[in-house]
Amino acid sequence: MGTPKILPKILVAYGSRNGSTAGIAEMIAAEFAEQGFEAEARPAGQVRDLGAYGAVVLGGALYNARWHPAARAFARRHAAALRGRPLWLFSSGPLDRSATATELPPVRHVAEAARSLGARGHVTFGGCLTDTARGFIARSIVRNGRGGDFRDPGHIKEWAAKIASELR
Ligand SMILES: Cc1cc2nc3c(=O)[nH]c(=O)nc-3n(C[C@H](O)[C@H](O)[C@H](O)COP(=O)(O)O)c2cc1C
Repeated sequence: MGTPKILPKILVAYGSRNGSTAGIAEMIAAEFAEQGFEAEARPAGQVRDLGAYGAVVLGGALYNARWHPAARAFARRHAAALRGRPLWLFSSGPLDRSATATELPPVRHVAEAARSLGARGHVTFGGCLTDTARGFIARSIVRNGRGGDFRDPGHIKEWAAKIASELR
C-alpha cells in the first residue's frame, strides 16, 4: 500500500457582474468537492493571499471582449503566486450554444495572461443574461429576445473532473 497522497486545496476565484460566472465557479468547486478535494469558490476581489491554496482556477465573465475587472486585477496582483501553482482559466459569456458546440479560444488579454502565468488550460463556457441583469444594454439584449441561460452543467462538470484527475 502506498502513502496516501495529500490533495491540494483548490481556490476557484471569479469576476462576475450579474452572478452567472459565480454560479459556474460554484459548480466547479462542487465537482472538486465530489472528487474529494477541499475547494472554495470566492469573488476574486476578496482574496488577499494564496498561501492556503495548492491550485487555482480563475474565471471571468466577458464584457466587450474583456474579462471582468476583478479577474484581471486578480491575475495581476497574484502573478508571482500563480506562477508557482497549477492554474487553469475560464471565461464565460457567449449567449448561444457556440461554447458547447466548439472550443472557443480565449480573448487576447486572457491568452496573454495564460501564457505569462503558465496556465495549464483555458475554456470558454456559455453565459447567462436574464432580466435581473444590471445595465441598460444588458436589459435591452434580454428584451430583444437574445438573453437566456447558456451555461452547460455537463461541460462545466467534465472540465472540473479533468482538472481533478490531473491534480490527483
Ligand atoms: C454589455 C454586455 C457586453 C457583453 N460582452 C460580451 C462579450 O464580449 N463576449 C461574450 O462572450 N459575452 C458578452 N456578454 C455576455 C456576458 O458575458 C454574459 O451575460 C455572462 O454570463 C455574464 O456573466 P456574469 O453574470 O457573471 O456577470 C456581454 C453582456 C453584456 C450585457
